[in-house]
Amino acid sequence: MTDEQSVRRVSEWDRDRLRTLANAHDTPLYVQDLERVRENCERLTAAFPDADVRYAMKAHSGRAVLETVHAAGLDAECASAGEVDRALAAGFGGDRLHYTAVNPPARDLEYVVDAAASTDGLTVTAGAVDTLDRLADRGYDGRLCLRVNPGVGAGHHEKVRTGAAAKFGVPHDRAVRVARDAVDRFDLVGIHAHAGSGIDADGLDSHRELVSRMGALARELTEPEAAAGDPDASPDPLNLEYVDVGGGFGVPYREDDAPLELDAVADATRDALGEVPGVALAVEPGRYVVADAGVLLTRVNTVKPTPDETVVGVDAGMTDLLRPAMYDAYHPIRNIGGANNEPDPADRESTPVTVAGPICETGDTFCRTRPLARPVRGDLLAVGIAGAYGYEMASQYNSRPRPAEVALNGDATVVRRRERLADLTRVEREAEPSRDGDGGPAPIDGDAGGVSR
Ligand code: LLP
Repeated sequence: MTDEQSVRRVSEWDRDRLRTLANAHDTPLYVQDLERVRENCERLTAAFPDADVRYAMKAHSGRAVLETVHAAGLDAECASAGEVDRALAAGFGGDRLHYTAVNPPARDLEYVVDAAASTDGLTVTAGAVDTLDRLADRGYDGRLCLRVNPGVGAGHHEKVRTGAAAKFGVPHDRAVRVARDAVDRFDLVGIHAHAGSGIDADGLDSHRELVSRMGALARELTEPEAAAGDPDASPDPLNLEYVDVGGGFGVPYREDDAPLELDAVADATRDALGEVPGVALAVEPGRYVVADAGVLLTRVNTVKPTPDETVVGVDAGMTDLLRPAMYDAYHPIRNIGGANNEPDPADRESTPVTVAGPICETGDTFCRTRPLARPVRGDLLAVGIAGAYGYEMASQYNSRPRPAEVALNGDATVVRRRERLADLTRVEREAEPSRDGDGGPAPIDGDAGGVSR
């Protein structure tokens, strides 16, 4: 597999098309290429031909992406009732839905238990005995997967390393006992663990260790004789359908980072799992499916030379793309030009600039003193590898409407309109009347008067 196929760099996007889109739909603007989403799905299913591949939709839960992933044959891994709802609406049947409950709010459990009653095959993954009890209390006795804390984590930042964090999963040394008890109340179909997000080549040892522990656990549950001597070992073999070893496959954000060799990762995963007769491997990547399929377009509105650095102010901020502020994440940035009467960026000198957004926080900075083709007011910058955890983590902080999103599928279609100022106050206008109020509903005056920027 060549580098070109393994990742789409920001330099490879059609500059003129991006400029046309930004001019037509204004900025900040997310552009998500569904053709690339499809290619990424195909690369995953080709690398893991015998595995269940589930899309962790928290990376990008837009309808157009979900429909594309559905058509490509991946299942959906959902982190909330809201994600289950969106996956159902996008066409995923229960048999292709996996809801992973992490300290699930009662409202989410109720929604999912109802959904499971009306759509066959939905699986709930739970990582605490309390969660099992709360499911049973609600009459749930369906398909269950036990999330295990394997005691080994990995990922691009400490905030996304889940594998060893006590928050996630039943401790490894209690997993056999909990699994054995669970079969009395549920249809136990699988075990699950997730090391963390954004695992690069350096994190692969941890990934392998996690998979190997999960393989051993699966054998202990399904072939108890293999675990003779363990007082917790089930006397009866359990029938598991799958071992889900999570997602987390990294993508190269820096231009000189090499992409993961997915086929080698898949081989290493299968080797580490070992033989578990009759039990399938499952993986649940999110970022890998959508990250390099998306760019964020933003326009330069301010160029401010200072003694220390030149600050380039843009109209996108941490409200549109939180990752740099939250994880110090690197995103590639390309000046695609567009300022009136300025030379093509390819013909300008490279100059170190700090690209910062409009939010009143120092953290609202996309890069510090990074060389870019000298930006000028009116230029468009394309922020690359923005398709995963981009729009998904957008907020209205500083009372900023969220950006628009265009999906490319041959044609370009606006799949999420730009929020208007009226969207910022909608939930206030639609609020339940307070107990002290006059009992009448709050007046709703719709979007009249809202502006789109
Ligand atoms: N499965 C589970 C149970 C997860 O919690 C996650 C991600 C995934 C799969 C998918 O991981 P991926 O393949 O996308 O790395 N907002 C952060 C990432 C948080 C990931 C949380 N869990 C970021 O922007 O880097």
